[in-house]
Amino acid sequence: MPAAVIIGGQWGDEGKAKIVDFLMSDHDVVVRYQGGANAGHTVVKEGKKFAFHQIPSGLLYPHTTGILGNGMVINPFSFLKELDGVISNGINAQDRLFISSSAQVVMPYHSILDDLKESDRKERKIGSTGKGIGPAYSDKHARSGMRMGDFLLEKEELFSKIAGMVKKANRKMAIYGAPELSPRKIAADFINIRDLIEHFIRDTQMMVADMNSQGKRFILEGAQGTLLDIDHGTYPYVTSSNSTVGGAITGSGIPPSALGRVIGIYKAYVTRVGRGPFPTELEDQFGDKLRERGCEFGTTTGRPRRCGWFDLVAARYAKKINGFSEIALTKLDVLSGIEKLKICHAYEIDGERIDRFPASSAILDKCRPVYTEMPGWEDGELGGNYEELPGNARKYIEKLEDELETRISFISTGPGRRETIIRE
Ligand code: IMP
Repeated sequence: MPAAVIIGGQWGDEGKAKIVDFLMSDHDVVVRYQGGANAGHTVVKEGKKFAFHQIPSGLLYPHTTGILGNGMVINPFSFLKELDGVISNGINAQDRLFISSSAQVVMPYHSILDDLKESDRKERKIGSTGKGIGPAYSDKHARSGMRMGDFLLEKEELFSKIAGMVKKANRKMAIYGAPELSPRKIAADFINIRDLIEHFIRDTQMMVADMNSQGKRFILEGAQGTLLDIDHGTYPYVTSSNSTVGGAITGSGIPPSALGRVIGIYKAYVTRVGRGPFPTELEDQFGDKLRERGCEFGTTTGRPRRCGWFDLVAARYAKKINGFSEIALTKLDVLSGIEKLKICHAYEIDGERIDRFPASSAILDKCRPVYTEMPGWEDGELGGNYEELPGNARKYIEKLEDELETRISFISTGPGRRETIIRE
C-alpha cells in the first residue's frame, strides 16, 4: 500500500495537521520525518483543540502507530511534557508511540546557542523559534551530536558522554560571552529521565521496513513548508531540515518506491512567521484583518504571522520540487466576505516580468507581485459539499487548480473534522 506524504506548499502553518488527522482514519502508521519542537500542529477533535509539537498529530486515532522519525531533532524534556498532555487527554500512547534511535537529541545548550547566534546576526536575524533546531542539526552534520539511541547506554557511560558534550558546548558559548552550564547538572537531568524515555526508543528504520512489507498504510507527516526547506527554501531564512519530499524518505527510512500520494497543503492565502522575503505580504490594515480572521498567531511561539495574498509563482515552484499528486486547500472560510481577492501570477523585477521563483532570497526580496483580481463571495457558512460552495469560491479554487495543474482534492472550510470537502 503506497505511503501518503503530507508537505507544506508555502512557509509552514498551512494546516497540515488537519489533513493528516482527516486521512489517518484509514491509515495505520504516521511518521514525522523532520524538524522538532519548532513545529506546532493544531487539530480540533470534537470541539477540543490539540497542539502537537514533536508527537505526530495522527496519534489522535486509537488504531494508529506513531513514530518520531530518524530525521527529527528531539527535545526529550519537551517530549515528556507533550506526552503528559496527550495522556491526560485520554490518549493512550503505550506500545504505539516510538522514537527513532537515530533521531538527534536537542541539548539544553542548543536553544541557548540558537538565541546567541540570532542576537549575533543583528539586522539579519532569521526569526528562529529559539528551540535549538539549527544548532542541533549543525551538530548532527558535524557528527558530534547525541542520538536518542544513546539513552540506552549504561548510566555511567551516558553521564560522562553528556558531561563531555556540555564541556565542549561551554567553549562554543564562551565565544559569545555566555555563562557556563554545569556539565554535572545537565548530565544528571538526562539520567533522571532515562527510565521514562528508554522504552519509546526503537530502531525505527527496520520497523518501517517491516510494516511496509506487511502492507501497513503510512502517512509521512512533514513540518514547516517547502519555502522553509534548507535546500529549496528562501535561504538563509529557512529552517535547518528538508521539509520537502526528499526529507520524507531520508527522515523516515521508507524507500521512494513506497510513495504514492504526495499531498501539497496550501492555505487559501499565504502566511509567514519569522524574517525573510515575502512578495505578496500585506503590510496594511487588510493584512491585520486577515491575521485576526484567520487567527494567525504561532502555535509554538504565539508570534503574529505575516499575511498576504496567494502566490502562484511560489506555489508552482513548490509543486515542481515535490511533484505534488494532489492538493489540499485550507482556510478557505477566512477569505469569505472579502469583495475582491488577489492572486499573484507573476513577479516584476527591475521592470522585467518573471514567472519563475528565484533561488536567491536577495532577488526574491526585490520582486514585486503582479496580481489577477477575482471576485469574492459573501460571508457565511460554506457548504458541506463542493457544489454547495458559492460560485465565486469555486472559481477561485478552479483558478488555482488550473494554474497549478494539480487536482485540489480537499478543501478545508473550518477547523473541525467535519468542515472538510472532499472532491473525488
Ligand atoms: P527554526 O526552525 O526555529 O530555526 O526557525 C527558522 C525559520 O523557520 C523561522 O523563520 C521560523 O519562524 C520558521 N519556522 C520554524 N518552524 C516553523 C513552523 O512550524 N511553522 C512556520 N514557521 C516555522
